[in-house]
Amino acid sequence: MDRVAAVDVEALEREALDAITGAADLRELDEARVRFLGRKSELKTALRNIRDRETGMTLNALRDRLEAGVEERRRELEAAERERAAAGDTFDVTLPGQAIPRGHLHLITQIRREVEDVFLGLGYEVVDGDEVEDTWHLFDALNMPPQHITRSPLHTLYLNGDVVLRTETSASQIRVMESRPPPVYVVSPGRVYRRDTADATHSSMFHQIEGLAVDRGITLADLKGTLLHVARALFGEEREARFSTDFFPFTEPSVGMAISCFRCDGSGCPTCKQTGWIELLGSGLVDPNVLANVGYDPEEVSGFAFGLGLERAAMLRHGVPDIRMFLENDLRFLRQF
Ligand code: DAH
Repeated sequence: MDRVAAVDVEALEREALDAITGAADLRELDEARVRFLGRKSELKTALRNIRDRETGMTLNALRDRLEAGVEERRRELEAAERERAAAGDTFDVTLPGQAIPRGHLHLITQIRREVEDVFLGLGYEVVDGDEVEDTWHLFDALNMPPQHITRSPLHTLYLNGDVVLRTETSASQIRVMESRPPPVYVVSPGRVYRRDTADATHSSMFHQIEGLAVDRGITLADLKGTLLHVARALFGEEREARFSTDFFPFTEPSVGMAISCFRCDGSGCPTCKQTGWIELLGSGLVDPNVLANVGYDPEEVSGFAFGLGLERAAMLRHGVPDIRMFLENDLRFLRQF
């Protein structure tokens, strides 16, 4: 008959619990578990050879205590592990941050906002217009007869019947006047479209800002004072303005505005083509026919209007040689402004 291996329960328990609670990490804990509770451990061997009930109960109780000890130590070690990992995630808030490259507004947007700000300062309102217009608002109401050259499909992009992409922001004048009685003081910026072949000074899409003032007693003096103020805000306080006759169907008289050259101050340079003057915008007193077309009484009110090309203003001010550069999205160009 086999002799049951005599197990010193107390000594074994002390030794095992020392190893278990002393395990510094999960690997050491597993080693202790294998050594004291594994298949070849002294305890398991003794359990296999049990001959009497009392020894069995004693050894089973010991096994339960050791297993509980292993579980408890495992929880402790895992909690410590989590804490260490979390501690590793902390960072030094005094370290320099990662710079996130930041863009800025496109030059055309900047100039648009500048012009808007000047007019907001004069008490004008900024209104949106539609890029898709009908021929009444874009042509007829603006006093352009049916045979006017701009109305040709060679110049204007027709979408469908009398639906067109606007060739100028002037249609906004009609929209605003149709929607409210005078007085009117508005500017209306936006994109315009023309059936042009692109070159250094032409693009099939560009931006204008339209201006319109209608009130009792508006005269050319108001036009001149207002536009000189804008020109000086954009091109420097020393600018002088020169007004000359021009023609637009919707103004009478029509007035072209030139400013003294901001490069050479008028003495003559390539920017002003040696003339000392730079053509800046078209303007005029609103034609009485236009006022009548929107139901205003030309005997009661008068007005002035103007249209400024934003790309043209930007090209002049910054010496940009080609209008297509505004659309190419070349950061080497855009970052300069
Ligand atoms: N619409 C004109 C153009 O595109 C610019 C213009 C001229 C607008 C005179 C006006 C104006 O309001 O009065 O060339």
